[in-house]
Amino acid sequence: MFQSRMYRPIIQQSIRSYSSQVSTKRAAIERIIRVDHAGELGADRIYAGQMAVLGKTSIGPVIQHMWDQEKAHKAKFEELIPQYRVRPTVLVPFWNVAGYVLGAGTVGEQLSCTASTDYYVTTRYNLLRRY
Ligand SMILES: [Fe+2]
Repeated sequence: MFQSRMYRPIIQQSIRSYSSQVSTKRAAIERIIRVDHAGELGADRIYAGQMAVLGKTSIGPVIQHMWDQEKAHKAKFEELIPQYRVRPTVLVPFWNVAGYVLGAGTVGEQLSCTASTDYYVTTRYNLLRRY
């Protein structure tokens, strides 16, 4: 009995520390999924805009291929959002419009823009897979 009381503060501190670590890890996972989903959504909309402008040109099939990859990435994060019970970014409506406009409006710089976005998101996704 005496020993149990003696160790109680230590056990309580350990539980608090563990809870804090779980909370920190949970927050990190939420942030990663939310940010990466926003990135994939943006990439999807960018390619949609590019296809609207270049879809019937000779590079249309290449853009379509890259867009299909982005659709798969976006689908994965849309699968992870309910799985991890993460709130998507409040910027989803903005990304839907801005991504499309960006894709259609910056056709000349399109590949560097989307490739950079995709590199960033892929790197974050690979980090997420470690959890
Ligand atoms: Fe992607």
